Amino acid sequence: MPEKTITVELGDRSYPVYVGNGLLRSLPRLLNDHSVSGPIVVVCDRNVARLHYPAVERLLTSSGYSVVPVILPPGERYKNLGTAGRIYTRMLRAGIGRSATVLAVGGGVIGDLAGFVAATYQRGLTLVHCPTTLLAQVDSSIGGKTGVNHALGKNMIGAFYQPRCVIADNNMLRTLPHREVVCGLGEIVKYGIILDEELFSWIESGLKNLLDLDPSTLFRIVSRCVELKSQLVSRDEREAGERVVLNCGHTIGHALEAEGGYRLLKHGEAVLLGLAAESHLAVRLNLLSQDSFERITSLIGRVPLKVGLRRINKKKALSFIGRDKKGRLGRNRFVLPVRIGQTSVVEDIPREMVGEALDVALALARSGSGRAKKL
Ligand SMILES: NC(=O)c1ccc[n+]([C@@H]2O[C@H](COP(=O)([O-])OP(=O)(O)OC[C@H]3O[C@@H](n4cnc5c(N)ncnc54)[C@H](O)[C@@H]3O)[C@@H](O)[C@H]2O)c1
Ligand SMILES: [Zn+2]
Repeated sequence: MPEKTITVELGDRSYPVYVGNGLLRSLPRLLNDHSVSGPIVVVCDRNVARLHYPAVERLLTSSGYSVVPVILPPGERYKNLGTAGRIYTRMLRAGIGRSATVLAVGGGVIGDLAGFVAATYQRGLTLVHCPTTLLAQVDSSIGGKTGVNHALGKNMIGAFYQPRCVIADNNMLRTLPHREVVCGLGEIVKYGIILDEELFSWIESGLKNLLDLDPSTLFRIVSRCVELKSQLVSRDEREAGERVVLNCGHTIGHALEAEGGYRLLKHGEAVLLGLAAESHLAVRLNLLSQDSFERITSLIGRVPLKVGLRRINKKKALSFIGRDKKGRLGRNRFVLPVRIGQTSVVEDIPREMVGEALDVALALARSGSGRAKKL
């Protein structure tokens, strides 16, 4: 099976992202290569623990590592300081000292939470990510953003903290619920639109294989996304500039997600709709050609979205756009595609135009979920 090593270049904090099918088997060797001696605090949620923890534990203990499991309830609502506190307590009771390593085995929730704990426990432990969702493999495990939510806002408490390495085993995605695969696809389509027309055409031709988790399609597309994200992070670690392109589709995506009370739509689903809507804005502003717009929307229309869109209130969704952290209405800001593979930042787009773009995306999603059956 092919394997690839992609380096996130950050001077003396550079690290490799290993991508491959069946990489988990190499976990002890890879940890050893990175001078990880243990004990290893394995953090995962209950879903991942049930499916993958026994293999992780067996691999580690048979290679002589001592393991401290921390198994948490699944879900975004547990990504908070209370859960972080429970992890600290568990680690202190187990006598974990500074030589230990935190191994985050899970999706973005576990990666962000365990990463934050690794960054803060006794002023910092070695961190290794083993991402198990498509979103985590192509996005959240790379770049060092760790953190938790606060009652007053998502990801409001956190730290930049880079891992020692990332081990992305595409095989671990085989147990992923289909809806989570679609969520990962949201960010993958985004990478194609903002950075890489070739990737976009791979997704066009390989969509069905990707949704079916075909190993060679997954490997090719995940490793390309990892390369793109790693290059961006290398050039702009702290999101001071270029990394802003990652927000394409997210201004409208976040508004839809918030309007659905973070229950109706999952993040990646909202991003797919946001990408369609923002592409429409780009056409209206004469930034994007009609042909590119049609390519984007026909791809998104082929993705089977199972979301309760009827309950999305357009007016309310619009009211989330252009608000600052205190909820005051200000300027809106969009990262819009100017062609497939390139974006531009645009501010102060008239609200009527944004509303029209929302209509387009919602209509597309309604017809798209019908058409998706023919895929
Ligand atoms: N740090 C970053 O740069 C960054 C970037 C994007 C998103 N995020 C964060 O990522 C989070 C979302 O991540 P997510 O979409 O991976 O969600 P998640 O971690 O909640 O995982 C989604 C669901 O899939 C289950 N799951 C995970 N792996 C599985 C597997 N292999 N088989 C079966 N089930 C599995 C989980 O238990 C969960 O129920 C959000 O909190 C978001 O803020 C962070
Ligand atoms: Zn996103």
